[in-house]
Amino acid sequence: MTIHSRVAGTGSYLPQKVLTNRELERLVDTTDEWVLTRTGIRQRHVAADDQNASDLALAASRKAIEAAGIPVQDIGLIIVATTTPDMIFPSTACLLQAKLGVRGCPAFDVQAVCSGFVYGLATANQFIRSGQCRNALVVGTEVYSHIIDWSDRSTCVLFGDGAGAVVLTGDSAPGILSSHLHADGSYAEMLSVPGTVAGGKVRGRPLLKMEGNTVFKFAVRILGEVAEEALAANHMDKSQIDWLIPHQANIRIIQATARRLGLSMEKVVTTVDRHANTSAASIPLALDEAVRDGRIRAGQHVLLAAVGGGFTWGSVLIRW
Ligand code: UT7
Repeated sequence: MTIHSRVAGTGSYLPQKVLTNRELERLVDTTDEWVLTRTGIRQRHVAADDQNASDLALAASRKAIEAAGIPVQDIGLIIVATTTPDMIFPSTACLLQAKLGVRGCPAFDVQAVCSGFVYGLATANQFIRSGQCRNALVVGTEVYSHIIDWSDRSTCVLFGDGAGAVVLTGDSAPGILSSHLHADGSYAEMLSVPGTVAGGKVRGRPLLKMEGNTVFKFAVRILGEVAEEALAANHMDKSQIDWLIPHQANIRIIQATARRLGLSMEKVVTTVDRHANTSAASIPLALDEAVRDGRIRAGQHVLLAAVGGGFTWGSVLIRW
């Protein structure tokens, strides 16, 4: 019997503290009006000083596991997508595993920036399909507030903190219909945090820098392309997409993608207004919201489309 994987449960977590555009006006030379019209962002959540990526991941994971209705010990694989790990090592996935009280199953991080969750989901799907595990926990978790230059108005207004998680489980029917992953490292400098530690000191500048305009144009083109690639691989027409869940970076990127695909914005899940860009967490946060408020229903087609630093990009098409 062919094994497929399906999403058994979703969960998410947003830190309590909300930072509005108006509050940012006091930090940098910006306005609520500029941020809202250029990006669609009204506010973002910011982690408390003592909250790390694994803490946000833990809260989101517990909700996903509860929704899946399985005992936590039945998790056979943990993949955490994050660009803002708690530490250099152990991986945030291992730290999360310990916090969940699970032992023995493989646990590792995926680093594909804003495409990280889609990379993680595609990887977990392969593990389940090849029979290596039955239940996988895939998490996107980020504390971008740690790597933002809070004096740079061109980037600090764009990002937020949060986490989203899914439990994938083996089933006789899909579930995940397809996944496609891509990368092109020649774009590395367009979006990066060009720092590391060496000899006990920080080497380079470990704060986010971005050529916003180049990233914008690339994202619009590539999100349209990955969606078309997924549809072609499944011999499907765009009219069969019930929900598009794109990476949430900028409402103008999302609207341009929807226009390019001929999709009404009513079929697009958006959270960027309230969450801003939460990188690897943005897609599972939006997915969880649309599952819990009843928009996503059994039998519907849900297309996840991501693009991020690297550059990396990819899609996962799910029959719910
Ligand atoms: O997850 C993937 C990573 N990120 C993204 O996908 C983001 C992609 N890029 C974007 O969303 C947009 O390019 C931005 C929102 C970053 C910028 O929007 P834009 O329409 O491309 O604006 P721009 O970069 O062309 O800048 C326009 C002006 C500049 O002033 P001058 O040179 O025209 O006088 C900037 O200095 O806006 C200025 N500006 C600001 N003004 C007020 C830049 N940031 C701000 C700000 N407040 N926060």
